[in-house]
Amino acid sequence: MKILVTGGAGYIGSHTCVELVQAGHDIVVVDNFVNSSMEAIRRVRKLCGTEFPFEEIDLTDGPATDRLLEKYPVDVVMHFAGLKAVGESVQIPIEYYRNNLGSTLSLLSAMKKHGVKNFVFSSSATVYGADAPVPYKEDSPVSRITSSPYGNTKLMIEYILKDTVRAVPGFNAALLRYFNPVGAHESGEIGEDPSGIPNNLMPYIAKVAVGKLDKIHIFGNDYDTPDGTCLRDYIHVVDLAKGHVAALKKLEENCGVFVCNLGTGKATSVLEMVKAFSAACGKDLPYDFAPRREGDLPETWADPTYARETLGWTAEKGIKEMCEDVWRWQSRNPNGYRD
Ligand code: NAD
Ligand code: UD1
Repeated sequence: MKILVTGGAGYIGSHTCVELVQAGHDIVVVDNFVNSSMEAIRRVRKLCGTEFPFEEIDLTDGPATDRLLEKYPVDVVMHFAGLKAVGESVQIPIEYYRNNLGSTLSLLSAMKKHGVKNFVFSSSATVYGADAPVPYKEDSPVSRITSSPYGNTKLMIEYILKDTVRAVPGFNAALLRYFNPVGAHESGEIGEDPSGIPNNLMPYIAKVAVGKLDKIHIFGNDYDTPDGTCLRDYIHVVDLAKGHVAALKKLEENCGVFVCNLGTGKATSVLEMVKAFSAACGKDLPYDFAPRREGDLPETWADPTYARETLGWTAEKGIKEMCEDVWRWQSRNPNGYRD
């Protein structure tokens, strides 16, 4: 299939480009580098062994997005582009709504004009209601409103896509709800490259391991969990990327709306992750216990049954590989793509 990958220079998009090309698909990649760099595209091209087309475009620019789809007649739009920092979204909500909703609307308008009818969206487990019992299933209750503007953009875009499926004959939308993507490509060539001090656990641990930060702060050790720290469903980014390749099958089957969790079904505590990374990098990483972080849930993990049954997809890589691959990426690229 011919696939437009938006946000393809970013963390998850770049890994998905590699898997799409390896599975025999033709890709066109677009990004505006608001949170990434051209070096990621160069490395993806190297890993794929092909010079796929790349366009630097801000997808909130409607006419530019329209010209993009005119130039490249694709079968599918895989939409990774978006702003994703939860804390920042509370500070600058307008920018988050403008960028995340605006880019999606530009794409949908251009798709309508050019007859493109398949959309894959990077949604998040954050759309599930705080009261939903774990493990989350696709039919678990979704929040009326999430804990952040970032999460709300995910929820709103899910609704926009459901309405589009209802209104446009033949339109299909795969809403893929990611759990906690971590890891890096096993080559060590591409990985997560956050700017500034990371908000998320895995990149923070990696920066401590490489000596850029002093100590890991574990947010809360008094939760009602086996070791008192929060439980999450960490999924290797390459498994996640393969889940996107598998989801194309549903679009070909003319699925209408397809909602699917992409997680492993396994819960790992913060403390277990710190220990696993210490083993992977061969040194005991320093940590302390800090107060709970506002908005954190004690435990979230996926029920991955539906993905297995409908896509024939299951995550294969465990915590050890996630840590080893992040360490390979981080130790070879201590400054990320800026080296
Ligand atoms: P990322 O920031 O690494 O990648 C997003 C890419 O989109 C970046 O390269 C950025 O430059 C680009 N972009 C942003 N706005 C754009 C615009 N207006 N026009 C063109 N390009 C634009 O993030 P990621 O971790 O790869 O996440 C990809 C998607 O998955 C995002 O939509 C994110 O919300 C979603 N998601 C991520 C996680 C996670 O933990 N990383 C979890 C759930 C969902
Ligand atoms: C967060 C977001 C979620 C988003 C996801 C991916 C919140 C409340 N949730 O998920 O909406 O989809 O990132 O971007 O922000 N932790 C520490 N020390 C750290 C960092 C994290 O102890 O320095 C802990 C957290 O308290 C949490 C776990 O590690 O228990 C995982 O945190 P994180 O990687 O930020 O992911 P989530 O909070 O699950």
